Amino acid sequence: MVYRPEQIEVGLDDVVGIDVVKDEVVRTLQLFLDHESFARRMGGRARRGILFQGGPGTGKTLTAKAMAAEAGVPFLFASGTSFHSSYQGATQRKVRRYFKALRRIARKEGGAIGFIDEFDGIGGARAGMGRGLLTSPSSLLSCGGLEGLPGTADRFAAASTAASEQLAYNGGGDLQMAVNELLVQMQSFDEPSGLQRGLGWLLDKVNLFLPTAHQVRRPKVTVPNILLVASTNRADGLDPALLRPGRFDRALTFDLPSKAGRRQLVDHFLKRKAHEPDLATDEHRDALAAITTGYSPAMIEGLLDEALVSAVRRGADAMSWSDVEHARLVTEVGLGQPVDYTDHERELIATHEAGHATVAWLVAPQRRLEVLTIIKRANSLGLLAHGDRDDVFTRARKELRCMIQIAFGGQVAEELFLGDVSTGPSGDLTYATRVAAQMVGAAGMTDTLVSFAAIAGSGYGGEDMVGRVLGDSQGRESVEQLLSEQKVLVRGLLGANRHLVEALRDALIERHELVGHEITDVLEAARERHQADSTRSPRVALAPVAPADGDEESRVIDLRDALTERPT
Ligand SMILES: Nc1ncnc2c1ncn2[C@@H]1O[C@H](COP(=O)(O)OP(=O)(O)OP(=O)(O)O)[C@@H](O)[C@H]1O
Ligand SMILES: [Mg+2]
Repeated sequence: MVYRPEQIEVGLDDVVGIDVVKDEVVRTLQLFLDHESFARRMGGRARRGILFQGGPGTGKTLTAKAMAAEAGVPFLFASGTSFHSSYQGATQRKVRRYFKALRRIARKEGGAIGFIDEFDGIGGARAGMGRGLLTSPSSLLSCGGLEGLPGTADRFAAASTAASEQLAYNGGGDLQMAVNELLVQMQSFDEPSGLQRGLGWLLDKVNLFLPTAHQVRRPKVTVPNILLVASTNRADGLDPALLRPGRFDRALTFDLPSKAGRRQLVDHFLKRKAHEPDLATDEHRDALAAITTGYSPAMIEGLLDEALVSAVRRGADAMSWSDVEHARLVTEVGLGQPVDYTDHERELIATHEAGHATVAWLVAPQRRLEVLTIIKRANSLGLLAHGDRDDVFTRARKELRCMIQIAFGGQVAEELFLGDVSTGPSGDLTYATRVAAQMVGAAGMTDTLVSFAAIAGSGYGGEDMVGRVLGDSQGRESVEQLLSEQKVLVRGLLGANRHLVEALRDALIERHELVGHEITDVLEAARERHQADSTRSPRVALAPVAPADGDEESRVIDLRDALTERPT
């Protein structure tokens, strides 16, 4: 499909929040536009191919369109899969036809940008060729990020794993030939056109009859100005030959936007979307940038659209901050479902969630408590959403312990207040085990420095890191120890702060959902009340408020246990 520059409605000004990529794109465009002087004066070879790689919705297609609009040349759009055909040889023919059209348009209009979207659909590695570039040389020791650990881009990590699985692809025979054809065609930009070749042939024939002094010179071959942009979610599945210099030698990675980038995106999208005055404030816009950690630009736009839907549903014609919070729950977890819990269930779920939130508030003041709810959504009966105030790229051992403690808050609260545990914490335990296994087996944060991640192949506990650690008796013991230490700590903490859990539990039972400062308001009020009570009657501190089940005996024991078991 050919778009003329005037048909493209986006420009580089519409590409927001990804400044590093944008700078590189502008440089590439300058080279593209100045290619003649670059080649003639400086002897440089024009950049022919550029590869955009990045997760879905990170702005690859948008940027390519903006490039074409900015360069003022036609834009030939094709998707990798559109070359597929079930007829023998037809895929190759389609590739040839595409490149022919690209060369023709570029000659006619002084340049063209070709864009092949979902490039892995056609450029996958041929059998036996291995995978493409972009792995760092093995001698480099890079500083590890948060692989496998709770991070700011968890959502994206999950998506990219799925993408890499899809890319375990070797193509059928026809597709392999298509890769060969691509390799040939990428080289064809500098070759003379059919007309130029014909003219050259004719002149050669004429020259046969002319004396040497009067020979006619072949006209200079004009090279069409073409830039081919290919976009893929994962470049490491591409054929390595496609990525060598002269082909797609420049790879631009579209990362998820940083917090500053997300703030720019929020400003950009809110220009066009109706919002109430509370969303015009820096405070809420910064908060929006903070809660969208790990979001791609398209996800941020989708969130704001969902917030508009929420506004319409409540009869308003502009979105407010609470619509954004609501939309976030809907997009991340699912729509709230009206379920009639029994009184016991409601109390259980509220106690569990209150336990999580109380621990988070006490041990991790650097985290923002975002939503605490007992409304059923998808598979969760209730949840606490909490996030980093800033983007996080690495985590200290202390922080990871806090994450495990927050996960245990639910189960411990159930034990302390209801004297029993439900199936509710199973997800929390999975999470805590994963984090602990990474700490033990990959990050050297406990008694062993052996990295289970260094074991290649699947013979030893499988590909999965958690499996490897738990498959090893010493590893499993360390995980057990780490987890039980954290649980003891949490029991001590919640035992000494029952008033906070109770206040949150009651607020949840009454209001079902608390958002942002509503959570901390309840906690702060409960703390103040408790402090006032303790100064009035010092005995109150030793005899906390009656528990839900009225079992004062077990409560006192719990409290004592917790205090004695708390490590110094
Ligand atoms: N940097 C950005 N600035 C402004 N809007 C953006 C940006 N990135 C993405 N968007 C919005 O998200 C939409 C989807 O982006 P785009 O189609 O470019 O994603 P993509 O990277 O090509 O994704 P995919 O890999 O799924 O093809 C755009 O149409 C635009 O509305
Ligand atoms: Mg795209």
